[in-house]
Amino acid sequence: MHDEPRASGAPQMREVVVDAPAALGERFASCCEDELGRAMAERGSASFVVTGGSAAELLLPRLVGARVAWSRVHVFWSDERAVPPDDPQSNYRLARELWLDPARVPATSVHRMHGEAEDLAAAAAAHEGELIAKCGAPPRFDVMLLGVGPDGHVASLFPEHPLLAEERKLVAAVDDSPKPPPRRLTLTLPALVGARFLVVAAFGAAKAAVIAQALGDPASSLPVARVLRAAERSLVLLDADAAGRLAGAPR
Ligand code: 6PG
Repeated sequence: MHDEPRASGAPQMREVVVDAPAALGERFASCCEDELGRAMAERGSASFVVTGGSAAELLLPRLVGARVAWSRVHVFWSDERAVPPDDPQSNYRLARELWLDPARVPATSVHRMHGEAEDLAAAAAAHEGELIAKCGAPPRFDVMLLGVGPDGHVASLFPEHPLLAEERKLVAAVDDSPKPPPRRLTLTLPALVGARFLVVAAFGAAKAAVIAQALGDPASSLPVARVLRAAERSLVLLDADAAGRLAGAPR
């Protein structure tokens, strides 16, 4: 395994917060206000990547009241399931219901992955073009929220999967995801490792072992560990159950 270099040689800053989901949601929203606001002040616009799954369910609703000029933020997803955008399994639909619609995020800010496409490889290539047009290549996302699977996957990059070795494509199709549904679109490691501010969120005891490994083992090859090691600045949001196997956690 080779490790992803950090986007700059700057020293790494990581904060781990263990709290109840409501407090983690407040923290997430205030970080988004600060980080996206700073990006807009410095560069005129900002980029923001969001996940699906429980991290999206618990954190995205907190963005509805956030003080962010969403018209100047480009919103992308870490991954998408191969379903239409109104399907209950769609990560886009989840974000739309919990955040994009209630916060009136303009459609021009939203760059969803087209999981409904018959030809997923073509959809991945087209999405990569959109990503590069808005964020450059390789992209440096201002804020990226990733959930974590119980196996340590992030986006739709699963442990030991050949796609972890991808060095060229920024977006790829997956047809053998161990988490259903099997067909997906995902950002690859070259796209995930350049985030200026990475937020990893995990809830529940099923995540405790991979979180302990990712934070405690500098040689871990888990996708979540690789993305965290590459991040210049990161915030890890955990509920007490997900933090249950960290050194010093109550037993
Ligand atoms: C998805 C995701 C995926 C998710 C993890 C964790 O398609 O589901 O984007 O990467 O973040 O699988 O999901 P849970 O928090 O629901 O376990």
